[in-house]
Amino acid sequence: MTHHHDAISYISGKSPALRGDVDVPGDKSMSHRSIMFGLLADGKTTVKGILTGEDVLCTADAARALGAEVTAQEDGTWVIKGNGLTNLTAPDRVLDMGNSGTSTRLLMGLVAGYDFNTSFTGDASLTKRPMGRVMKPLAQMGASFIDKNEGRLPLIVQGSSALRPITYELPVASAQVKSAILLAGLNADGKTTVIESKPTRDHTENMLRHFGATVETARLENGAYAISITGKPALTGCDIVIPADPSSAAFPVVAAILTPGSDIRLDNIGMNDRRAGIFTTLIEMGADITIENERDMAGEPVADLHVRYNGPLKGIDVPADRVPSMIDEFPILSMVAACADGTTRMTDLAELRVKESDRLLMVAEGLKKCGVSLEMGEDSLTIHGNGKPPAGGAEIETALDHRIAMSFLILGCATDNPVSVDDGTPIATSFPRFIPLMTALGAKIEKR
Ligand code: S3P
Repeated sequence: MTHHHDAISYISGKSPALRGDVDVPGDKSMSHRSIMFGLLADGKTTVKGILTGEDVLCTADAARALGAEVTAQEDGTWVIKGNGLTNLTAPDRVLDMGNSGTSTRLLMGLVAGYDFNTSFTGDASLTKRPMGRVMKPLAQMGASFIDKNEGRLPLIVQGSSALRPITYELPVASAQVKSAILLAGLNADGKTTVIESKPTRDHTENMLRHFGATVETARLENGAYAISITGKPALTGCDIVIPADPSSAAFPVVAAILTPGSDIRLDNIGMNDRRAGIFTTLIEMGADITIENERDMAGEPVADLHVRYNGPLKGIDVPADRVPSMIDEFPILSMVAACADGTTRMTDLAELRVKESDRLLMVAEGLKKCGVSLEMGEDSLTIHGNGKPPAGGAEIETALDHRIAMSFLILGCATDNPVSVDDGTPIATSFPRFIPLMTALGAKIEKR
C-alpha cells in the first residue's frame, strides 16, 4: 500500500504554561469537498486555506484520476480545473484512500452516476470500516458493487448513468452517508432526498449551492430534516475560503485548559453550529473560552478563540442531541473528563466504534492505563475525575487513529508521569504540523 508508514512513537511530559497564537489548519471536511466539487464543476475553482493533510491528498489524487487538474500555487492557494459534471474520465488505477473514510464514502457516491468502474482500497484502519451504509442507498439508485470483503474495502463501484432518484432515511447520523447520496443524486433525473433525524454537518449542502446546485432543506413535522438535491445541474467553478478546523482546534484548546497558567489564541475557527458542540460543552464544564470577533467567512461562521487555564473543570452529562455536532471530539473531551472534578457521562456514542479505530475502546483502555476510573458501555462512556490529572505513565495503543494519538499526547502535558503513544504518524492525516505547533506553545512533546 502506498500510504504505509513505519510507526514513530512520541512521548509527552508535564508542560509549563502554554502561551501564544495557534495557526490551526483548514477544515478537513470542507477541504475534501472543495476538491470533489471542483472536479465536478466546469472551469476553475480556487481554494484558500485548504488542509494539506494526507487524507485530503488522497482526495486530490482521486480527483486527478477522474480527470481534474489539481495544483497548488506558491501562495498556498489550490486550483482545481474540472471538465463539468458529464465529463469525468474512468480512472486507470486503483484509488488508494489511505486512512480516509470521508474520501472513500463521498467518492463512492460521486462515481456512482458514471458508466465506469472505480476501484477503492485503503490502509489497515480503513479496510475495517463499514461501507455497506453507502452501498445500500447507492444500490437502490442503480449502482452495483464488487466487494469481496463483506461491505469493506477493497471494493469496486460499478457506476450507471441511469441512476434513479430516491428518498432515503438515514439509519445512522452520518454526514458522509448523506453526502454520498446527494453526490449520486447530482447524476439522477429529478429530486433525490435524504432524511436525517439528527442534524449532521451541512458542508455538502452549503458548498454545492455555492457551485450552482439546487439543494433544498426542510424541517418535517416530526423534527427531522429533509435535504433534496435536483439532478443534472450546471456546476460552475468558484472561489472558496476554508476556515480553520474546529475539530483540530479542539486539541490545543484542551491543552490550554489542562495546563496551569496557559493563555492561547486561535484565529478563524469554524463555528458552524453543526460542528462546534465541543466548545459549548467545554464552556459548560467551566472552561474559560472567549469567543471573539464572530463573523462570516465565505458563507461559514467563524470566530477567534481566547482560551485561558481556569482550574479543574466540572464533570457534566453531555446531552445526547449534541453528539453529532462534536462526533470527532469525544476522544479529546474524554481527556478533559479524566482531569475534571466529578463524573462526566457521554451517551449515544455507537458511531465511535466505527471511526478510524474503535474510539470508545481505545479511549477507555488508554485512560485505564493512565489510572482513570471509568465505565464503558456498548455506546456510552462514564469517566470519574478527581479534580486533578490522573497519574499517566503509560504507553498508549493508537490503532492508526490520529485523534487517539493527539488526545493522549495532550493528556501527557498535564499528568505527573509522561504518556507515550505507539505511533504518531497518523496525525499527518488531519494535522501535519501538530507537534511543532504544540511545542511552539511550550508543550513537551517529542519523538521517543
Ligand atoms: C465527516 C463526517 C463524520 C466525521 C468525519 C468527517 C464528513 O463522519 O466523523 O470525520 O466530512 O462528512 P460520519 O459521517 O461517519 O459521522
